[in-house]
This record gives sequence, C-alpha cells and structure tokens, in this order.
Amino acid sequence: MFSPNVLRDKVILVTGGGTGIGREMCEKFASLGAKVAIVGRRTEILDKAVADLTNLGYDAFATRCDVRSPDEIAAAVDRIMDHYGRVDVLVNNAAGNFVSPTERLSAHAVDSVLNIVLHGTLYATIDLGRRWIASGQKGVILNIVTTYAWTGSAFVVPSAAAKAGVLAVTKSLAVEWARYGIRHVAIAPGPFPTEATKKNLYPLEGMVDMLKDRVPLGRFGNMDEISNLAAFLISDYASFINGEVVTIDGGEWLKGAGQFSGLMALKQEHWDMIREMSRKKTPNSTGKD
Ligand code: HXC
Ligand code: NAP
Repeated sequence: MFSPNVLRDKVILVTGGGTGIGREMCEKFASLGAKVAIVGRRTEILDKAVADLTNLGYDAFATRCDVRSPDEIAAAVDRIMDHYGRVDVLVNNAAGNFVSPTERLSAHAVDSVLNIVLHGTLYATIDLGRRWIASGQKGVILNIVTTYAWTGSAFVVPSAAAKAGVLAVTKSLAVEWARYGIRHVAIAPGPFPTEATKKNLYPLEGMVDMLKDRVPLGRFGNMDEISNLAAFLISDYASFINGEVVTIDGGEWLKGAGQFSGLMALKQEHWDMIREMSRKKTPNSTGKD
C-alpha cells in the first residue's frame, strides 16, 4: 500500500523505540526510507536495536536518555542532530505502567508513571518544538496514548491520568503550533501484547484470555497493524490530519461502553425466549383487551 520511499530521508525520533511497539514502528519507518533515532534508558537494548536494524540494511542511531529529565532529552537531541543534522518527526512512545489497587500506590509510584508518560512526553515535545519553531522547520509529533485516556480505567490510575494529559497536549498543541507547520496526531491502541505488558499488566495466568475476550474481533492487534497506521499518520499522506486520535483496538472500548454488550453471552434459545416475551400482548390500563 505504501510506496517504499514514503518516509525517505525523514529523521524520526522514537522514544522507547528499543522494545515493543516502539521497536516495531522503528523497523516499519526504516523500511519506508526513514532514518530512525531511538532513545531509552537501557543501553544494551538500544545497541541491540541499532545492530538489528543495521543488519537489515536500515539507517538507525540510538542514544541513552531518560525522558523524565529535560536536560537528558536536550543532550540526546543534540547528539541526534550531530548525527543526522535534523529531526523531522517525534514519536512519544516511551511509557511506564503497572496494575495495582490505587490505595496501594506510594507517591513515588505515582510520580514514576506520570513523570515518564506525561512529563516525558511534554518535555520532549517542547524541546523539539522549540528547535523547529526557531529554525522555521515543519514537524510532526505522534503521541501513543491508549483508549482509557477518555474513559479512565480501574487499577491503572496514574497511567490513565497521564495518558489523558497527553491527549490534552495533543489537541491543545494541534491548534497552538499549527501556525508553525507542526502537526500533532495520536494513536490509541487496544491490547498489543509485548514483553512489558505481559510482565506489568497481565502477569497472572488467565489474564491474557480475559483481555482477549473483551475484543469484538476476538484477537489482539498485530504489530504490523499499528506500525502501518503510525507510518501513515506521520507521512505526507496525512498532512491535513491535525489533532486527531486514531483508535486501533478491534472495537474493544466500544464493547465496554455499550450498555447491552454483555448480551454477547446469550445463546440462540435465550434470544428466542426474549423475542416471545417481548411480543406478548399486555392488557391495557382499563384491564380490557
Ligand atoms: C505497586 C509499584 C509496582 C506495582 C512498581 N511500583 N511496580 N507499586 N505495584 N506493580 C512502585 C515501586 O515500588 C516504586 O515505589 C515506584 O513504583 C517506582 O518503581 P521503580 O522500579 O523504582 O521505578 P523505575 O525503575 O523508574 O520504573 C518505572 C516503572 C517500571 C513504571 C515502575 O515498570 C518501568 O520502567 N516500566 C517501563 C516499561 C513499561 O511499563 N511498559 C508498559 C507500557 S504498557 P516505592 O515507593 O516503593 O519506591 C502501557 C499500556 C497501556 O502503557 C494500555 C494497555 C491496554
Ligand atoms: P514497552 O516495550 O515497555 O515500551 C516502553 C519503552 O519505553 C521501553 O523501551 C522503555 O525502555 C522506554 N522507557 C520507559 N521509561 C522510559 C524513560 N523514563 N525514558 C526513556 N525511555 C523510557 O511497552 P509497549 O507495550 O511497547 O508500549 C509502547 C507504547 O504503547 C506506550 O506508550 C504504551 O503506553 C502504549 N500502549 C501499549 C499498549 C499495548 O498493549 N502494548 C496498549 C496501549 C498503549 P527503557 O526501559 O530501556 O527505558
């Protein structure tokens, strides 16, 4: 569907691009001609990602950075500029999350997730935005949120609060920075199992199946599906899409929202009974037929 050069020579910075969805997006972008710059905290993960991408014949560069520190972000972007000379697209993908009853959370646990997801996203956005505005360069920012950014979700409250904040940043800056030619888009993924989600979100046996049952399409998302969407949204084909969030979840959140979605569990005989019952004539208020 894409021409192989749709992202040719674009330099794309992916935070948390060494693992999971970020890593998949890097490979997709590179396969479409982009140069990918990856940041994350673990150098061994970053080195492996660059080695693997280079072995595939792609152009990749990585540098360590904790997105919770604006100074580390600035230094990392400087190194990327030294290497590639520019950055055209920022993908705010880095995140931290775990399931826990909220009353068990320490202040440090709350800060940890909010600092990575909300503050890290905003720090990186402001760093790149300032540079683009100063140099008159256009740019695209893609934020990875989640469907519970709108609805909230029990047991992941810091993540839900942070992603709701990222959603607000996306929509706010889509307006404020459009005059500089900076476009904002976001993706709200449903479940795309990764090492991190298996470890932090559904570590117990049976939890994965519980999650799959929630998806009307009856399966999890494939990495290709989300990385193709990301490639489209950052490409020039989407140049008039600004401030939009695309949900990619097989219909999961709508199923949760619909009042009667639980009726999915009914069998044909139940539907026959319901039909008969709802068609029964009832006496009118005078008691006469
Ligand atoms: C309660 C917990 C906890 C848990 C950690 N903490 N795990 N509290 N229940 N399960 C507490 C710790 O005790 C500590 O508080 C505080 O959180 C910080 O923990 P650290 O390990 O010191 O923090 P840090 O090394 O900074 O790691 C951050 C992290 C970690 C978020 C805790 O999980 C991480 O690095 N995650 C990155 C990868 C990740 O989470 N990816 C998943 C993204 S998936 P105290 O008070 O004890 O010091 C995603 C999907 C959304 O976002 C939608 C799904 C459908
Ligand atoms: P992942 O593999 O854990 O990816 C998160 C990445 O962020 C890691 O590479 C991690 O690397 C990096 N990171 C974490 N904290 C960081 C920090 N402080 N500074 C710099 N980098 C940091 O998880 P994933 O499942 O692929 O998730 C990717 C994105 O999709 C996240 O935004 C997540 O919220 C979103 N999402 C995922 C799902 C899903 O089902 N997978 C669903 C909805 C939304 P280091 O630990 O080395 O720093």
